[in-house]
Amino acid sequence: MHRLRHFALHVLLLVIAHAPLPSAAVDTLRPGQALAGWKKLVSANGKFALGFFQLQPGSSYYLGIWFDEVPVLTPVWTANRDNPVSNSTSPELTISGDGNMAVVLAESGTTTVWSTSTEANATSNDTVAVLLDSGNLVLRSSSNSSLVFWESFDYPTDTQLPGVKIGWDKVTGLDRRLVSRKNSVDLSSGLYSSTMGHDGVARMLWNSSAVYWSSTWTGGFFSAIPEMSAGSPLANFTFVDNAREVYFTYNIFDESTVIRTTLHVSGRNQVRVWTGQDWMTVNNQPAHQCDAYAVCGPFTVCTDSASDADPSCDCMRGFSVRSPAEWAVKDRTGGCVRNTPLNCAADGRNRTGVPADKFYSMPGVRLPQNGRQSMPNASSAIECAQACLSSNCSCTAYSYGGEDGCSLWHGELVNVAADGNEGMIYLRLAAKELESGKGNRIAMVAGVAALVLVLVVVVVICSRRNNGKWWSRPIADSDKGGSVVGIATFKYADLQDATKKFSEKLGAGGFGCVFKGRLAGDSTDIAVKRLDGALGNVQGEKQFRAEVNSVGFIQHINLVKLIGFCCEGDRRLLVYEHMPNGSLDSHLFQFQSCRRRAPLDWSTRYQIAVGVARGLGYLHHGCRDCIIHCDIKPQNILLDASFAPKIADFGMAKFLGREFSRVVTTMRGTVGYLAPEWISGTPVTPKVDVYSYGMVLLELVSGKRNYVEHSSSCAEGQGDYLPVQAAHKLLHGDVLSVVDADLHGELNVEEAERVCRVACWCIQDLESDRPTMIEVVQFLEGICQVEIPPMPRLLTAIAGSGSHQTRVSSL
Ligand SMILES: *[C@@H]1O[C@H](CO)[C@@H](O)[C@H](O)[C@H]1NC(C)=O
Ligand SMILES: *[C@@H]1O[C@H](CO)[C@@H](O)[C@H](O)[C@H]1NC(C)=O
Ligand SMILES: *[C@@H]1O[C@H](CO)[C@@H](O)[C@H](O)[C@H]1NC(C)=O
Ligand SMILES: *[C@@H]1O[C@H](CO)[C@@H](O)[C@H](O)[C@H]1NC(C)=O
Ligand SMILES: *[C@@H]1O[C@H](CO)[C@@H](O)[C@H](O)[C@H]1NC(C)=O
Ligand SMILES: *[C@@H]1O[C@H](CO)[C@@H](O)[C@H](O)[C@H]1NC(C)=O
Ligand SMILES: *[C@@H]1O[C@H](CO)[C@@H](O)[C@H](O)[C@H]1NC(C)=O
Ligand SMILES: *[C@@H]1O[C@H](CO)[C@@H](O)[C@H](O)[C@H]1NC(C)=O
Ligand SMILES: *[C@@H]1O[C@H](CO)[C@@H](O)[C@H](O)[C@H]1NC(C)=O
Repeated sequence: MHRLRHFALHVLLLVIAHAPLPSAAVDTLRPGQALAGWKKLVSANGKFALGFFQLQPGSSYYLGIWFDEVPVLTPVWTANRDNPVSNSTSPELTISGDGNMAVVLAESGTTTVWSTSTEANATSNDTVAVLLDSGNLVLRSSSNSSLVFWESFDYPTDTQLPGVKIGWDKVTGLDRRLVSRKNSVDLSSGLYSSTMGHDGVARMLWNSSAVYWSSTWTGGFFSAIPEMSAGSPLANFTFVDNAREVYFTYNIFDESTVIRTTLHVSGRNQVRVWTGQDWMTVNNQPAHQCDAYAVCGPFTVCTDSASDADPSCDCMRGFSVRSPAEWAVKDRTGGCVRNTPLNCAADGRNRTGVPADKFYSMPGVRLPQNGRQSMPNASSAIECAQACLSSNCSCTAYSYGGEDGCSLWHGELVNVAADGNEGMIYLRLAAKELESGKGNRIAMVAGVAALVLVLVVVVVICSRRNNGKWWSRPIADSDKGGSVVGIATFKYADLQDATKKFSEKLGAGGFGCVFKGRLAGDSTDIAVKRLDGALGNVQGEKQFRAEVNSVGFIQHINLVKLIGFCCEGDRRLLVYEHMPNGSLDSHLFQFQSCRRRAPLDWSTRYQIAVGVARGLGYLHHGCRDCIIHCDIKPQNILLDASFAPKIADFGMAKFLGREFSRVVTTMRGTVGYLAPEWISGTPVTPKVDVYSYGMVLLELVSGKRNYVEHSSSCAEGQGDYLPVQAAHKLLHGDVLSVVDADLHGELNVEEAERVCRVACWCIQDLESDRPTMIEVVQFLEGICQVEIPPMPRLLTAIAGSGSHQTRVSSL
């Protein structure tokens, strides 16, 4: 940031058309007066100033509002952000004859740079412009202060001050949204925006198209920002959704608090508080820098860094920064460009006398989120590479792995991040780029170093959050914590008591353990999931947020109920209703002891099949935002006292906005239940859950796992792969031999056949061949007839090659 530069005094001398403002600071501009040069309006409380400013000496002029008491120039609103005034002119702000406020050029007297253009029914001698104590610049009647014609709070730029509403006026169609600035020296509109939809969902978008963050208001806080539930000692939050308007706003308790929420150049919404010396960031959304879409531009690798605002961006090998000048002012959207052209001419043919292009492997990255093409025909890494080379110049990379193998990328690669995941991409480069010897080896572009960095960042972010005064106040002093619509916040000490110091363990998962407990003065049992070391564990923290963000505000009889959570310092706990009959897998399968609970009877199994389908149907189609569970398996289906199923574990769940059909995700479900498209890193649809559900149905009917863990001493015959075997028998009308022998033939054959058919439809290779969960419910309820499905081709191929066990276990 640069200090405010005042106009040279001689510029002021040119201003003669209007009477200058009185020299004492005033907050009001009257008809016939002009605001120009170094003059400024100052709000009555001295907090805000309005005037012309430059971001750098000699650069263009903007009319805007800034914090007058903060020595670092911090514009919070700009009138002419996309139409700055040249440094060689002398602009002035006046109230024009029609009662509007306008910036005109003094030289010409007529050129209007910016105007409020309201249809105010005011004569100019009755209209005044006042800078209010809130930082709102209003144009109003001088005789009646509540007759407001225009206000700057209706046209926010990149900053939401307390009192600014982000959202829609449904009557006038006014959409108040934040739009980031272009770079650190240019206030014009950038690519990121922060919005509130008509549907009441807050979203952050890139170039008005790609949603990279979204959240619903859950009676008191945004579900994606669970720490907000603890309230704030500085401000309260308001969300309104009625027939006239939908918006989010916040109000500070003490007018002297200097606070703002700004959509930063780097695509993150930051809540910042002035400490007296410096701006301190107390909240960032999204929490991780590289989660802002395309923040580093094409052909870069993004790494979360410990700095507040900017991730570190590195060009991929063989690429250089496109515009070092833009890069220097923190605008990385241009990304990087290729140093040596690929070996292909514009017509797609190879150039003569140039060696073939080569590939450079980049491990440990999140795969690019655009321009992917699946190549099911390539059955080896070499064929995949060949497919990329022999397609035209637009193929820039490939990846190979997982069940459907080969993917090609066309055009620019964006959103590649060093996130320590197992993703591996092969970048196409001219042979010359890889000649230097060292290039032929696998480069650790990302890998361990990046992972360590990520961890450092999280620790930094979280510890700052704890020191910050904003979201992190300890939970209110009530007995069980404050309860908001349906979901409660708990104190750690209360959960410690409820679980008798975490003594009765119910199970352990990827990121923590689940304990049984009972709240004081309550007669029902609860299950408390404690995410261990959540702060040192990015995935654990992400899981916590995903869980609160999804199950936190949905309720369905077939979804496990999240009673509340605890987000205290570095502690992350989730509190659920307790399910006395445990998880479905404990009833279906044998374990190390080679024993299992009493087998479930047929009608219970059928009830479970229908219940899980209803729960998923609700997730996909019933609630406001479509949610993909992403990890459907018997371990995540819990049974209540009457064996009614409840879907649990939303740690991998993904939101899909109403208007979007696919969501980009790098997280993965569980081997054996993964849809083919899921493995290849393609954006996924709810059909991945349909696939996993189909696999669960087969296990439910057969009582056998659909894949065999090689270490299991209880392994059954390793010959046939269950899904293929089942599909095969179904096609030959021999359903009974698929059914669990423990049922001893006590079952409804018609229902069993229906379940098998549905299962087989659900595990089809192509998403479009699989039914929706709504259709599945209708099939199972017998409302619709199910046709005989075709054999799933990929599964057959896997079973045929006899290699499915090594394939699945190597994932
Ligand atoms: C005005 O801007 C131009 C280019 O933008 C620059 O060359 C010139 O030095 C500036 N003039 C002043 C007086 O700073
Ligand atoms: C304001 O102007 C509109 C037309 O521009 C007119 O219909 C309306 O009556 C005026 N209102 C007042 C209070 O003068
Ligand atoms: C505004 O100007 C008109 C004539 O130009 C005059 O009649 C009226 O009294 C003025 N009103 C105020 C509030 O000064
Ligand atoms: C002032 O304006 C408001 C809003 O238009 C109106 O409701 C109110 O009656 C006006 N008061 C006077 C004294 O004119
Ligand atoms: C943003 O979207 C517009 C059209 O929707 C497109 O023309 C433009 O190229 C996009 N910008 C970038 C940086 O991709
Ligand atoms: C929020 O705080 C402001 C300032 O103290 C107060 O005026 C307002 O009524 C509060 N709103 C709610 C919903 O509590
Ligand atoms: C270009 O060269 C590669 C490698 O030699 C070859 O596989 C590919 O088919 C060639 N493409 C064309 C269009 O000739
Ligand atoms: C894949 O192979 C099938 C038959 O083997 C062929 O019909 C199809 O065109 C091939 N697809 C591509 C993209 O090469
Ligand atoms: C190159 O191939 C891609 C995908 O097959 C296609 O979209 C693109 O139009 C092709 N470009 C040229 C120049 O042929």
